[in-house]
Amino acid sequence: MNPTYDFSGKVALVTGAKGGMGYATAEAFAKSGAAVVLADRDEAAVQEAAAKLTSAGYKAIGVGCDVVDEAQVDALVARTVSEFGRLDFAYNNAGIQGEPTDAADSIADDFDRVNAVNLRGIWACMKHELKQMREQGSGAIVNCSSLGGLVGLPGRAAYHASKHGVIGLTKSAALSPCVNLAASAPLLCAGITTFSPMQHWKLEAGQRVGIIGLGGLGHVATKLAAARKADVTIFTTSPRKVADAQRLGAREAVLWSDAAAMKRLTG
Ligand SMILES: NC(=O)c1ccc[n+]([C@@H]2O[C@H](COP(=O)([O-])OP(=O)(O)OC[C@H]3O[C@@H](n4cnc5c(N)ncnc54)[C@H](O)[C@@H]3O)[C@@H](O)[C@H]2O)c1
Repeated sequence: MNPTYDFSGKVALVTGAKGGMGYATAEAFAKSGAAVVLADRDEAAVQEAAAKLTSAGYKAIGVGCDVVDEAQVDALVARTVSEFGRLDFAYNNAGIQGEPTDAADSIADDFDRVNAVNLRGIWACMKHELKQMREQGSGAIVNCSSLGGLVGLPGRAAYHASKHGVIGLTKSAALSPCVNLAASAPLLCAGITTFSPMQHWKLEAGQRVGIIGLGGLGHVATKLAAARKADVTIFTTSPRKVADAQRLGAREAVLWSDAAAMKRLTG
């Protein structure tokens, strides 16, 4: 059973929030009563995502922000405070996956791009969020890492370097006073095997796996798992994604909001 929270009067900021896990987190904050700032480099899409929340009666705004640009991140936190008065929670989720490349063939620009978003982007977000939280004397931040922040994988050196970096960054910054910081490795634990794209070589035909979200890495993971003939369930926030999931080879797609289906799967 999912825990419930009352975040009335609190303010949350989520990056990479136009879809995927970012949007799911923003929606969960909104449903718990927080005012939410959804940020993404895709300004039109993130404003549309925020509009879905406001039309459902929640407090939300969508802000275009490229986390690679520290000035935009500074402006994002300032906008959060000018709009809602404070910043209590931040989920630094924006991230990209590079093309799989043997380390001996890797290209400097690809390495720089992945690390600029996944590591420097989190550094910039955390820095400006911490400044605001230090002034308030409280706050909580979660930085999105990955299983790739804990293990190595051939062809993934740049991504794994960036996600290892997120954990080091978070451990050190967590020593800041007044703030709770955590690095997360998004995996699903729901009575079925946890899975992320980095683990696809371990899958066997018929093995049951769950994948959160069909955006970005979720899309890649679904294709990889389906190619291994795994029995794939997609967990998604969007009814529009159900058909996409089946087209990619998933057996079923389940909405987070479908309490009966979630109960059936999680026992
Ligand atoms: N899906 C997985 O299996 C998985 C596993 C481990 C870690 N992760 C991490 O979880 C996070 C979210 O992944 P997802 O699967 O929901 O992917 P996603 O592609 O759906 O979400 C990433 C979001 O970040 C945004 N973004 C990319 N670059 C940005 C930038 N420079 N500035 C602002 N926004 C930017 C994208 O527009 C997108 O909305 C990422 O950090 C990813 O590395 C995902």
